[in-house]
Amino acid sequence: MPPAPATSDVRRVVLGIETSCDETAAAVVVREADGRGRVLSNVVRSQWEHHRAFGGVVPEIAARAHAECLDEIVAAAMADSGVQFEELSSVAATAGPGLNSGLIVGLITGKAIALAHGKPLLAINHLEAHALTVGLTDGLRPPYLLLLVSGGHTQLLLVHGVGRYERLGTTIDDALGEAFDKTAKLLGLGLPGGPAVETAASKGDATRFQFPRPMAGRAEPHFSFAGLKTAVRQRAEALQPLTEQDVADVCASFQAAVGASVVDRVDRAMTLVNDRLPVDAPRHLVVAGGVAANLALRTALQDLTDRRGFTLNVPPIAMCGDNGAMIAWAGAERLAIGLQDPLDFAVRPRWPLDAAAAPAIGAGVKA
Ligand code: KG4
Ligand code: ZN
Repeated sequence: MPPAPATSDVRRVVLGIETSCDETAAAVVVREADGRGRVLSNVVRSQWEHHRAFGGVVPEIAARAHAECLDEIVAAAMADSGVQFEELSSVAATAGPGLNSGLIVGLITGKAIALAHGKPLLAINHLEAHALTVGLTDGLRPPYLLLLVSGGHTQLLLVHGVGRYERLGTTIDDALGEAFDKTAKLLGLGLPGGPAVETAASKGDATRFQFPRPMAGRAEPHFSFAGLKTAVRQRAEALQPLTEQDVADVCASFQAAVGASVVDRVDRAMTLVNDRLPVDAPRHLVVAGGVAANLALRTALQDLTDRRGFTLNVPPIAMCGDNGAMIAWAGAERLAIGLQDPLDFAVRPRWPLDAAAAPAIGAGVKA
């Protein structure tokens, strides 16, 4: 890991723009000279209505929807914040990873605003923004263990500092949010799938079906959800026609299997963290990404952190899903250590946070 750069003590006001997937978002955030953060505005528009009929996010539809409303969303975020463009310290926009054409819409808009008002541009890694959100919401600074669970990503990262990430584990197939979305789809529940599965599960019996606990006991803290998804599909097929109670029981049993698998993997990662951090450093587990909204998962992780002597930090639900404030905050944090990006920065649909991490497949893990 490179050494931590010094932070500078100037107040910064940053506009953040997010268009990497199916949320069009913009926000204005302040980073005070002492490093504390405050959200001045945070406007998020979900595109689910555009994609619902297709059962998932359609990249071309997403890009068009971003292009149609981004100007309005940025204007709303600026108006809500009471800040003028001239007062901004910089403009931050997501440059990856994500859907190529949506990223282009957001990054070009960010560049245009930066250029028009003579402000520095920050091209933000969406995963870094999720990773640093807890600094804005809880004032928590690295090091900490991060469980990032969203529709596109499932990773365990040891966050050493801004720009310094060590990937401990990742999924070898589906992301956890994707597993929730696919489960919802095959059970005929609405999209987005996570909240629908959670709601159905609240009326179900989690002990009725024994679904596999993927990867449990493996030495490296990688994840896999494809086998679990198949087991759910086979069970749902065997139960046809499904009653409402069947659906609730499948959802509850699926959620229990997910919880057990994730707890096993995070438990393993905690051991790796204990090997790496000084004995007297406080231990924190941060959960970020849309799936962090899941109450059953939070409860399971609370038990684990209590048992292992870690503190659990989960940002408020609105800040767990994709939003502009996390992009603005990552921009402010990067600016504070003297970073900015050129106006010809190109989008990066693939952009790992830890480029040195070995692929999960081949690391003693079966595909
Ligand atoms: O971080 P996010 O808003 O977008 C990205 O994928 O980057 O995460 C969205 C994902 C979706 O897969 C959604 O189904 C899942 O988070 N999700 C949940 C819950 N709320 C959202 N999964 C499980 N339980 C929830 N309550
Ligand atoms: Zn995300």
